[in-house]
Amino acid sequence: MTKDFWKNIAKPIIGLAPMDGYSDSAFRRVCRAVNPNIVTVTEFTSADGLSYGAERLRQKLAFHPSEQPVFAQIFGKNTETFIRATKVCEDMGFTGIDINMGCPAKKVVKSEHGVALRKNTDAACRLVEAVASNTNLPVSVKTRLGWSDASGLIPFSKAIQNAGADMLCLHARTYMEPYNVPAQFEHLYALKPELDIPLIINGGITSLHDGYQKLGNCDGFYIGQASFGNPWVFSEAGAPASFAEKLPIILKHTEWLIEHKGEIVGTREIRKHLLQYVKGIHNAKQFRNQLVHVKTYADVRAVCDTICNYEVTVS
Ligand SMILES: Cc1cc2nc3c(=O)[nH]c(=O)nc-3n(C[C@H](O)[C@H](O)[C@H](O)COP(=O)(O)O)c2cc1C
Repeated sequence: MTKDFWKNIAKPIIGLAPMDGYSDSAFRRVCRAVNPNIVTVTEFTSADGLSYGAERLRQKLAFHPSEQPVFAQIFGKNTETFIRATKVCEDMGFTGIDINMGCPAKKVVKSEHGVALRKNTDAACRLVEAVASNTNLPVSVKTRLGWSDASGLIPFSKAIQNAGADMLCLHARTYMEPYNVPAQFEHLYALKPELDIPLIINGGITSLHDGYQKLGNCDGFYIGQASFGNPWVFSEAGAPASFAEKLPIILKHTEWLIEHKGEIVGTREIRKHLLQYVKGIHNAKQFRNQLVHVKTYADVRAVCDTICNYEVTVS
């Protein structure tokens, strides 16, 4: 993959935002089954862990060939471990590397990783420079407006670009703002003319239509939480009306999670998605208990069949 990937890809770029606990291989495949033109990013993964050869992390990061283009998101602050982690991702066949400079988790910030890099432009640039000059893969950065306001956004973004980033994705909230505060895209519209690299916007986008409306002069958008239980957020046609019509994708999601993580972990992890998939079904709470206790693919199939039958009786 060439460094020009982000410049050459058709615009607007549409993608599934990286989300720890959600944007794993199975969910990325599901979203791409709904819309094969989207790009996806892995859950954030420790550069230190990867560089020390943690097999568990490699397994977590593994992807299916049909997912391309898929980007490995890594976090950390040490340039040497970042370079080694980049090599691991290269060997695994990722399309590109995405550097996390947005994670607000206490542990991450305390270690001066994630969004903490937003406060330290020199360290952030050293990281980008180290990765970009040691790989032929495109390197992107995902970050936030700022720490408590957007005042340093333009100089920070230009510095990141000059350090070698090929794309910038901005979650249009600051570190201090919770996820339910409206995203402030006006800062991104003002930033865009200052940059030569593509700029992807993110934050609170609820549908493709919403994304097109909020895109402004930018190059694309990522959708995160609005995809929970609703990978059809990436479909121009929207979600099917009935649970029965959604079932083939729900079962594929289950099958791919089990394929990646085995039946015990896969069925444990599908539970939270199943709870999201049934949202909106009349009186869905009566199925909660069954949904949170599935232990096999057959259990998932059985409870989903029950829900389909129930749906027919109430329609
Ligand atoms: C559960 C959860 C996990 C997240 N994990 C990551 C992550 O691993 N890497 C990252 O860059 N952002 C992460 N984010 C932030 C999202 O990528 C995105 O920026 C944020 O959710 C705003 O977009 P949205 O309003 O469309 O969800 C996470 C968000 C959520 C809700």
